[in-house]
Formats: sequence, C-alpha cells, structure tokens
Amino acid sequence: MRIYRIAAIPGDGIGTEVVAAGVEALTTCAKRDGGFALAVDHFDWGSERYKKTGAFMPENGRDLIKNHDAILFGSAGAPDVPDHVTLWGLRLAICQPFDQYANVRPTRILPGIVSPLRNVSGPELDWVIVRENSEGEYAGVGGRAHRGLPEEVATDVSIFTRAGVTRVMRFAFALARSRPRKLLTVVTKSNAQRHGMVMWDEIAAEVAAEFPDVMCDKMLVDAMTMRMTLKPQSLDTIVATNLHADILSDLAAALAGSLGIAPTANLNPERNFPSMFEPIHGSAFDIVGKGIANPIGTFWSGVMMLEHLGEPGAAARLMRAIERVTADTSLHTPDLGGNARTADVTRAVCETLAGDNQA
Ligand code: IPM
Ligand code: MG
Repeated sequence: MRIYRIAAIPGDGIGTEVVAAGVEALTTCAKRDGGFALAVDHFDWGSERYKKTGAFMPENGRDLIKNHDAILFGSAGAPDVPDHVTLWGLRLAICQPFDQYANVRPTRILPGIVSPLRNVSGPELDWVIVRENSEGEYAGVGGRAHRGLPEEVATDVSIFTRAGVTRVMRFAFALARSRPRKLLTVVTKSNAQRHGMVMWDEIAAEVAAEFPDVMCDKMLVDAMTMRMTLKPQSLDTIVATNLHADILSDLAAALAGSLGIAPTANLNPERNFPSMFEPIHGSAFDIVGKGIANPIGTFWSGVMMLEHLGEPGAAARLMRAIERVTADTSLHTPDLGGNARTADVTRAVCETLAGDNQA
C-alpha cells in the first residue's frame, strides 16, 4: 500500500471548513481506490497563531513539512491583520523557499454551473493559466523612505530573471503540449514595460523553438481581458507573470461561474520540495462559521494533488464525482446561487465516490 504524507494547513477563515471537507473527500477517495492511503498531519498555522505568538508558523515550520509528499492549504487572511503581513508570513513563506515556481490554475465551466458570459458553456471555456510564482512583481524588492513626510517615497521593484522566466516558460509549453489543442498564449505588457516584459517575449520565442508542435501566440494583458471575455474559445493554455496571472485568474474564475470552484497547484516540478494545493478563494470572513463555504475549489485542488502524487485513477474518480455533484443544482452553495451547505456537498461527493464503479 502506498502511503502519502500530507501536511494540512487550513489557515484562516473558511480555510478550516474547506480543508476539513477536502481531507474527508480525499480520504474517501483513497479508501475507494484501495491502492494508497493518506497520512494527514494538521498544522494550526495562521493569523490566530500570529496574534498570540507573533509568528504565523514556528521558526522550524518548513523543516516540519519539507519531507511531506504534498501540502493542502486553506487560505490566509484575517480582517485584523494587514493582508501583506499574512501573505508574506505564511503563503509566500512556503511557496518561495520551497521553490514552487509554477502555479497552475485550470478553469472550466463545470456541469450545472452557468457562466456570466452569454452563450458560453463547457467546451468553449477550458483553460489552464500558468502563473510564474517565484519572482516578478511578488519578488518583495523595494522599500519606503521618509515615512509620513510629504517627500515619502515607496518602490516595488519587479524582478525577472532569465532562469526564472525560462523555467516557467518551459513548464507552460510542456503543459500546453500535453493538452489536445497544443496552444499557448504568452501574456505580457511589453509595450509599456520595456525591460523585463521584453525579455519575457524574447525568452518565449526561444523556448517556442524547442516546442515546434505547440502553437504559440502573444497578448498584452489589457487586450487579454477582452479576449477572455469575448473569445474564450480561442484560448487554451496561458502563461503570465505573477501579478498578471493573479488578476487574470480571478477573471477566469468569475467567467467560469464562481471563485468558489477554482483550484490551484503551487508546483515545484523538480520535486526537491513538496508542492502545495489550495483553493483560489480567500478566507471569506463574511461567511465564516456559517457552514456554507463551497468546498469544490478544495476538492478540485485535491484532484491536482492526486495527479501530482501519481494517482491518476483516483484523480479522475474525484473529478467525476465533483462534476456529478455540480450538475445537481440542489447541491449548489450560495456562491453558485443555491442553498446547499458545505456538508451537503461533501457528503454528496463522498457518496458518489464510494458508488463509482469505473476502474
Ligand atoms: C491568489 C491570491 C493571493 C495572491 C492573495 C491572497 C495574496 O489572490 O492566490 O491569487 O495574490 O497571490
Ligand atoms: Mg488572486
């Protein structure tokens, strides 16, 4: 029996609710499969811990999880802690040292879910956004001087390295190649940002030569928002910088029906460190404790985790269960316009999994 060690970090807000649901679904999935089991360790890292101890995670936190096979993350963010403190204290404190440089965000309109775009359903919107996840606008370089004075200055410097851009570009081309349409769109803003973004375009052209079977086109990020909205069927795999892809992936999630269903994988493709899987939605303090958080984003992230662990059969089974459940609108949570509760959706996914007789 294969045993995978999973570090569960629910974090803040509805993170605790959806990670609990995710662990339940993944455990059911493992039982149904029979070939593997999950050993889940829970870590209480997050804003509550920060408020009590001054740190989101213990000093040796990364050592505690560096040998796990994967990380299941909930969300980070609390109303009474500044967002940049949370982000750098927890999520980026894991992503960056663990070199999870490829952030993968699939978007599809799942059965039963209605896109806000008129006349757009399933096959017309099937994208994967690859977000550079280690540098760029999130490099953390910059500073502030003369605080509070009229001459105060602040800078945030984007860092683009040839090594960083090349590796994420190769990852994106390889991912595009693995999908039926073999189509990659490279997003930049190389008209206005004439250094780093121009280097992105140049490196894209170099890497494209290594993947002659992948069709590749270029978009400026502003025009990309229009293309995503007006011609969704013209896109397949998309690669963009850390910030551009952050913005585009929220747009993508909204066009696919809800942020509540959108998953993410923060991958270290070389597997030198564990990769981290999380729903895109945040901690959603407005609905905390109500039991109505949509667990589908976490379940779909679980699918990506199972694929990464090398369990494609179980991954496909969990995805099928998700799609069976979203197809039933009586199982939609309020973000999708329904009345279902987290527990209803979780139970339905687990029952569907248990009853799935496909290989
Ligand atoms: C995301 C989120 C985060 C980000 C926030 C919570 C800091 O928006 O994962 O897309 O900007 O990276
Ligand atoms: Mg975002």
